[in-house]
Amino acid sequence: MSNAVPSFSHEHLESLLTTRAIGRLAEFHDCIDSTNIRGKQLATSQSAHGTVIVANTQTAGRGRMTRVWQSPPDCNLYFSLVLFPTIPPQIVPQLALLCALGVHEAMSQTVPTHTFGLKWPNDLWSQQGRKLSGILCEAVLCGSQTAIVAGIGINVNGSSDDFPPDIRQTAGTLSELANHPLDRIELLAKFLNAFEPLLDQWQAAQSLQPFMDTWNKFDILRGTSIRVQNGDEIIEGIADGIRPDGRLVLSTPDGERLIHAGDTHILRNGGEEAN
Ligand code: BTN
Repeated sequence: MSNAVPSFSHEHLESLLTTRAIGRLAEFHDCIDSTNIRGKQLATSQSAHGTVIVANTQTAGRGRMTRVWQSPPDCNLYFSLVLFPTIPPQIVPQLALLCALGVHEAMSQTVPTHTFGLKWPNDLWSQQGRKLSGILCEAVLCGSQTAIVAGIGINVNGSSDDFPPDIRQTAGTLSELANHPLDRIELLAKFLNAFEPLLDQWQAAQSLQPFMDTWNKFDILRGTSIRVQNGDEIIEGIADGIRPDGRLVLSTPDGERLIHAGDTHILRNGGEEAN
């Protein structure tokens, strides 16, 4: 039996793809500042729709709200997709939720024994309450067209103990759930293969309506007390799912609020954050 390490290469990815366009053009980097920064450069130079930039490690991995995304080498998946979707600008924010659905599908295929949770707007969590993946979508104006660079980080191999102390209690890896190491490129191919039909359906519907059942099924916020922070604004209430336009529905003492952006935190009974 071969002990060869599965190759982290474009050839390996190509051999697994079933897509028309998504992931067909790819850049593999052993080390890069951020795949999103590279994605934005490629978008402005009119790179093809669906180009994927993959890195083994990032020196300036970026998270949402100007946070750092830890990107150690040889264990996780860091990639960005350059997309030129045919959609009206007002529905661009839905794309991050669509990416979350694609990551959910890829993770569920990779570790079928586990059920993964969607946490609005675009995080994937384990049943044990650990964050496994995050998504950072950035829009780039390219002449008359808007490109979206969808950056995705997935914690694949290694253990929670490898994370820095500030996130050690809340971050987890897929291999901890699978109980064995996982091939990052197989996971990437599963995402790309799942994402292309989701993108087709979304562009046709121009809304998240076709995915509401799936979102509702795996939504970990629904029915819980949450705190939503968007800049200086903080609102608390009971999460009540999402609207097909991607907004979060929050029941508050002052009535229903529809939230278009922010960070969400589940609250324990005493009101302090559970994550
Ligand atoms: C978040 O949850 O805060 C979003 C994290 C997004 C991280 C990914 S890793 C690949 C891509 N390149 C980056 O610099 N960020 C995204």
